[in-house]
Amino acid sequence: MKKLITAILFLLPVSAFAAGGGTTYPNDPANIDLSDKTSLQNGAKLYVNYCLGCHSMEYVRYSRIAQDLEIPEEQVMNNLVLGDQKFGDTMDKSMDSDLAKKWFGVDPLDLSLAARVRGEDWVYNYLRSFYVDPSRPFGVNNTVFPEVGMPHILADLQGLQAKSDELLSVEEQIAEAKAVLNDSEASEEAKAAAEEKQHEAEAAMAKLAAEGKMFVQIKEGQMTPEEYDENIRDLTAFMAYTANPVKLESKRMGVWVLLFLFVLLIFAYFLKKEFWKDIH
Ligand code: HEC
Repeated sequence: MKKLITAILFLLPVSAFAAGGGTTYPNDPANIDLSDKTSLQNGAKLYVNYCLGCHSMEYVRYSRIAQDLEIPEEQVMNNLVLGDQKFGDTMDKSMDSDLAKKWFGVDPLDLSLAARVRGEDWVYNYLRSFYVDPSRPFGVNNTVFPEVGMPHILADLQGLQAKSDELLSVEEQIAEAKAVLNDSEASEEAKAAAEEKQHEAEAAMAKLAAEGKMFVQIKEGQMTPEEYDENIRDLTAFMAYTANPVKLESKRMGVWVLLFLFVLLIFAYFLKKEFWKDIH
């Protein structure tokens, strides 16, 4: 028992770290549904069309996707498998790593496990938070991943958004407060006031995010904001599935285990009755 408690205590800070790491905004819940096959299938299609060019999924085989997401082999071959890849192959990216390094400064990561490493909500919000920033190499930046090196691949679908005036003003307040807090010559009173101001501004930021007022649309995309969010939810669901494929399996198994236990319970009940019959 003691050992178990020690083990749990040992693991706690790790999981806390994985979940936290400072709040980024927006932080809307992804609300994915892994039992929704249509959502996962749409996510797989989006991934292949928009992400696989740069991000491989080394741990994922097309054949496994076909089986888990219930897509016939023929459809997988026609719609998901690109180039000369085969049904049993893992999902390789089409871009050459050296070329990618030259273009982006980094080789885009393999994303098989991204939804587990970063968290589903992080991925969901990241893909919705590109905004126009002319100072960046690709003309966009990201509030969830500042100074990101990835272009806004889904700009055709989402359109373009810019930071709202409210967000800019809150960010300015936070920056001003931080400047005072970092200033070694500032008085104690000034620091206390700055700390207060920072808290207020952070609360205002959380409110803006919750109300969906961080960005304003400056160019329409092919999708409405609602459609875009829905598709990003599907894409995130697909990535959550690849990060943990056994989750689908364990759900299926879980039902059978429960059924088995139920049947066992009935037998145990009658067995007990049989045993105690003659004892009274
Ligand atoms: C043109 C190449 C390219 C395409 C296409 C692309 N990305 Fe990226 N992506 C990058 C690069 C480069 C980075 C690294 C950014 C950095 O480190 O600054 C990145 C980073 C990421 C990250 C963060 C990884 C991490 O944990 O640091 C995620 C998540 C991601 N991309 C998801 C996607 C998804 C989902 C798609 C498809 C909708 C996609 N990317 C399409 C180039 C691309």
